[in-house]
Amino acid sequence: MTDIKIQLGVASAATQIEGGDLVHTWSDWYKKGHIHDSADPARANDHLHRWKEDIDLMADMGITIYRLSIEWARIEPARGAYDEAAVSWYRELLSYIKSKGIAPLLTLHHFTNPLWFEGSGGFSEPANIPVFLGFVEYAVKKFGDLVDEYVTINEPNVFAVMGYFDGVFPPGRRSIPETLRVQSIMSSCHIQAYELIHRLRKEMGYTNTKVGFAHHARVFEPQSKNNLWHRFIAGLTSLMFQGVLTRACLLGRFSFPLKKYGAVCPGQYADFLGLNYYTRSTVSKLGDGVREGSHRNDLGWEIYPEGIAQCARELHELLPRPIYITENGTCDNNDSFRCRYIHDHLKALVDSGLPVERYYHWCFTDNFEWCEGESARFGLVHIDYATQKRTVKNSGRFFAAIIKNRGITKEMYDEFVAPQEYHL
Ligand code: FCB
Repeated sequence: MTDIKIQLGVASAATQIEGGDLVHTWSDWYKKGHIHDSADPARANDHLHRWKEDIDLMADMGITIYRLSIEWARIEPARGAYDEAAVSWYRELLSYIKSKGIAPLLTLHHFTNPLWFEGSGGFSEPANIPVFLGFVEYAVKKFGDLVDEYVTINEPNVFAVMGYFDGVFPPGRRSIPETLRVQSIMSSCHIQAYELIHRLRKEMGYTNTKVGFAHHARVFEPQSKNNLWHRFIAGLTSLMFQGVLTRACLLGRFSFPLKKYGAVCPGQYADFLGLNYYTRSTVSKLGDGVREGSHRNDLGWEIYPEGIAQCARELHELLPRPIYITENGTCDNNDSFRCRYIHDHLKALVDSGLPVERYYHWCFTDNFEWCEGESARFGLVHIDYATQKRTVKNSGRFFAAIIKNRGITKEMYDEFVAPQEYHL
């Protein structure tokens, strides 16, 4: 029996599940033909109409914590023009979540910008920092009585690198200086949002506020440990992808090549360490790479369970705070190794002895996986997109059983984990 004291929940993001016609960067990216399977985010999981069914299913599985996000473009479709109906919908959703005994962790920005914001330079324009903070203030004033815990920004490093270095996310730019500027600006946004949320919630009379950001971290390793160049470039990639940004966001320390924008001081800007962990990168040049002969998921990402503890430890050494795994999961279209993946990652966390308090599995239902569209399945619950029928997968039953038994019994291991194997 493996005892698991970590609280288990699930995660999602507005653009990936809600559906509906909105004017934002991802509907625009779809219209420009960048979604590999041509899936339209206006469909997604139709969570906009099926939210009750989804939350009921969550509660039936025994889930008590849920990380979700709000869609900026839905709430503020034009600059300064807020949609009261959208606010009411989120309030109803959040109230329902709570009525089912589920505590929400609310992400304020998860990859998607309203097109009006993007049009004015988005996060590559320092003058837009107050614009983002204006949205944060509005959201906290509207939802602050329902939500105690916040993620300011999801994966600022992935947003910057995919959108401004690799050019595969909107706005499709390829520029190192811009990538660094976006990382710097988003770090300032996080710090200022951290302070703002605390101030606003305090003014509302609450003392139990928790704020952090969801950091995407990987293990970076040289392809050959004996190759000096590989070692150098692995270190540099890690520093550029996550190292400098981690220190900026958590500690307000902006070291070269990041730049400080606005009035931000050194400090401690996280009440929990949010970690999104998926994989290890094996590096021989500036960029990504996968170790030869390694186990891989259906998107070709290496499966490397020890890495989750390694990344969590690095964050904890920088700032000792409770650790929340804000995302961990895998693309397994046939649900043929997800149970083993969950088992191995949870075990690595338990064995690490680190103060890991929560684990939010990415994700609850299959959903719109950005550039991959509907063809990359990460969910514990299967979605038939044509009928929108939800069906709990084998891995969903396993996850529910872990919650129920507060661990993995021998019987559960034999039923769910032992029959599964990773593939190359
Ligand atoms: C993370 C994103 C999340 C999801 C997973 C697979 O980088 O935060 O929205 O797409 O990857």
